[in-house]
Amino acid sequence: MAATQEQLYSGLDLDLSWSERDLPERERTKHVHRLHPYLGKYIPQLVEELFRRHVPARGAVLDPFAGSGTTLVQALESGLRSAGVDIAAFNCLLMRVKTGAHAPFSLEHELRDVLARFERGEGEAGAATPYVEAWFAPQARDDLLRFRSLAEQSEHADVLRVVLARAARSARLTTHFDLDFPPAPQVGPYWCHKHKRECRPVERADHFLRRYALDTIDRLKAFARVRRDRPVAVLHGDARELELPGPFDAVVTSPPYPGLIDYHEQHRYAYELLGLEDRRVRELGAAAQGASRAALGAYVEGIAGVLQACAAAMRPRGRVVIVVNDRRNLYPEILERAGLGLEQSYQRHVNRRTGRRAGEYFETVLVARR
Ligand SMILES: C[S@@+](CC[C@H](N)C(=O)[O-])C[C@H]1O[C@@H](n2cnc3c(N)ncnc32)[C@H](O)[C@@H]1O
Repeated sequence: MAATQEQLYSGLDLDLSWSERDLPERERTKHVHRLHPYLGKYIPQLVEELFRRHVPARGAVLDPFAGSGTTLVQALESGLRSAGVDIAAFNCLLMRVKTGAHAPFSLEHELRDVLARFERGEGEAGAATPYVEAWFAPQARDDLLRFRSLAEQSEHADVLRVVLARAARSARLTTHFDLDFPPAPQVGPYWCHKHKRECRPVERADHFLRRYALDTIDRLKAFARVRRDRPVAVLHGDARELELPGPFDAVVTSPPYPGLIDYHEQHRYAYELLGLEDRRVRELGAAAQGASRAALGAYVEGIAGVLQACAAAMRPRGRVVIVVNDRRNLYPEILERAGLGLEQSYQRHVNRRTGRRAGEYFETVLVARR
């Protein structure tokens, strides 16, 4: 039977409602969690606590909506086996880089070597797509394309692709206050809401490439110090259809929510520069699909399909742990359709948002089982 709305929304869990002082940004973005911006992730400390509560030691955990890889990274830190699925190719690239076992010495040597060659003017700029022509100033575009040609010859090409994407994001012709979803290229000076003065769009990318290459070395080295040697799999595809490499002891995930975020579009620059395959038609809950009755119906069916596939890949007593802000009360029906029974739920208070997306809200943790 489906859970009632009161059942879903009971119990504020103060242990999970960290304040800014308890959990400063530096901790929330520790090591590889800040390798590249990603809108819509959950925080590593929440995942650590969910593992502690719901996953047996040295067990196996699955995240069917793995996104930027928070679950997988924390599974490595907690000594769990893990697998993550995502429909968006860039997210899978980012996860592979975050979770990979890099040899710190050769990684640092090679990244510094590529940087030195870039600074000597090596590499070929080559042709740009219309998007790249429109969204970057001429110098920034040449910097990025030249770096790309050096990255492609490298042994650590994927790491350098992530550095390239991060620099491209910062170097787009945007305003400082619209980095998440800039509506159109900003070609001239503009009044900046963030800095309260006139600002100009970026013209170069070389300083970002240098800064992010060095930051990436530091972050991957910091993670290597806490990363345990456990199997981790990143699967690119639609979680409704993929064969999942179970059995798992738990699912820990935060699904997309309907009409909020376009997960492909937020990294459009990366798809364009890296030639990644765009599978947005299979993306569940994309903002572009809106929140009409038909869109919500498709969302409910889609998420239920994913959870059903996950349930089939789990050990009999395994728990499905879902973090969601279910304003529309869709999850009672989703769980029922997926053949899952709600066992427990708790809420956490989230009040740390800064900038123009400010605002506090509640997140619910649903714990279900077959
Ligand atoms: C809320 S985000 C997950 C964020 C993740 N918890 C993190 O911390 O990075 C939801 C993810 O679901 C992915 N997604 C959407 N539809 C999907 C599908 N059909 N199969 C697999 N992944 C999908 C999106 O690409 C997005 O990365």
